Amino acid sequence: MTDQVANNYWRMGGITITDVEDYVYSMLPPRDEVLTEMEADAAKNKVAIVGPAVARVLYQLAIISGAKKIFEMGSAIGYSTIWWARAVGARGQVIYTDGDPKRADKARGYFNRAGVSEQIKIRVGDALEFLSEEKEQYDIIFNDVDKTDYPRVFRLVLPRLKKGGLFITDNVLWSGRVAKPNPEAETKAILEFNELIYHSPDLFTTILPIRDGVAVCIKK
Ligand SMILES: C[S@@+](CC[C@H](N)C(=O)[O-])C[C@H]1O[C@@H](n2cnc3c(N)ncnc32)[C@H](O)[C@@H]1O
Repeated sequence: MTDQVANNYWRMGGITITDVEDYVYSMLPPRDEVLTEMEADAAKNKVAIVGPAVARVLYQLAIISGAKKIFEMGSAIGYSTIWWARAVGARGQVIYTDGDPKRADKARGYFNRAGVSEQIKIRVGDALEFLSEEKEQYDIIFNDVDKTDYPRVFRLVLPRLKKGGLFITDNVLWSGRVAKPNPEAETKAILEFNELIYHSPDLFTTILPIRDGVAVCIKK
């Protein structure tokens, strides 16, 4: 494992014991030049990307479910977006959303270099607002926005998701803080969100304890 993977900002921790986490990352095949550069960029500039272990899960879920249309909420420099775009293939579409125009510019450059620009529509602004204005339904909605907004995202998602579609959310274990006393605002919001997704009659939910916790919900 390179030092960049072993010690970097996006890897997080606190869920799986460090030795096991090291082992999981050591098994990952190398990524291509663009993704490798993005991982280094994210580590250097403290951008909280999902990283390669979670990205592979996202890619697999899109392939298994045959997803062609994906709405991503909180895309940053576009790392997870590229994995989605490669999973949906040339005839698929991924909506990139981020509130930071500088990150969107950077993402655009990476999409060109990765050869996936055709499949990605870039929208700069509030992802929740964009989703609420959507007329279409998606095969996958991926939620990676500010954690205090997670309960609000839950309330917007169901009408925009196809029956059988996947609602996937990153950071639902929040470095283990969900299981500790005295939660602060972000942890409280994640705790509320996790209750909502597990108890919704419209969703079937599992939390995968990989990296910082990934919730996978199927719309019934
Ligand atoms: C964790 S990063 C996303 C990382 C990305 N999903 C990846 O794994 O490559 C979160 C991003 O969401 C953006 N963001 C947070 N709240 C947002 C909102 N309500 N609307 C749009 N973007 C938002 C931030 O600007 C930040 O770039």
